[in-house]
Amino acid sequence: MFKKKPFFIVFEGVEGCGKSFQSRKLKKNLSSKGIKSILTREPGGTRSAELIRKLILKDYFNKRGPEKFDKYTDTLLYLAARNEHIKFKIEPALKKKFIVICDRFTDSTLAYQVYGKKISRSFIDFNHKFILKGLKPNLTFVLKVTTKSSKSRLRKRKTKNRYDNFPESFYRKAQNSFLKIAKNRKDYFVLNSSNNDKNLEKKIFLIVQKALKIK
Ligand code: TMP
Repeated sequence: MFKKKPFFIVFEGVEGCGKSFQSRKLKKNLSSKGIKSILTREPGGTRSAELIRKLILKDYFNKRGPEKFDKYTDTLLYLAARNEHIKFKIEPALKKKFIVICDRFTDSTLAYQVYGKKISRSFIDFNHKFILKGLKPNLTFVLKVTTKSSKSRLRKRKTKNRYDNFPESFYRKAQNSFLKIAKNRKDYFVLNSSNNDKNLEKKIFLIVQKALKIK
């Protein structure tokens, strides 16, 4: 029998690494054991945070340079969306002892804004102190992918992706940042997601089963 407890699982990685796919698979696998979980994402997850997401993503495709958000505006929008998401979705769900699976979280801000766009780390840490109030994922999966494989996945998507706007080197840097963050951390699992087989889904579920003591 699984004893209900709050548990927060995060998937991180660059575009096309398969984290949305794997988070859906994890939800399905938990459900097959009769365990309910909540699947959510960042930026987004609540009505207002999804509105902020639209603003952010629309700006990525706005080609008119001077009209584009300043990098601090962009960062504050991610943080604003996170504040809504935590306050109105993640925290209430964890309080009810649900398992929360989240597609991206704070490490994306470190990888993209701090390492990628050179936003000051202390600016992020200061804001996070008020937004997170100590909230920390129990488990983080970092999915590592080759550029070839992520590009091929992104090509198959109907919606436009940000590979059109950023150079390849930006994503390589972002992936390296995720790997750096995960280094020497017991609560992080770096897994190769370049192959399209069922092994990764099984590996992830085994790790979660062990962490949750599910038979
Ligand atoms: P997604 O397409 O994987 O859902 O992610 C949306 C984009 O938002 C993606 O390019 C990564 C970016 N992002 C940041 O730059 N900082 C953040 O804090 C988060 C959560 C996402």
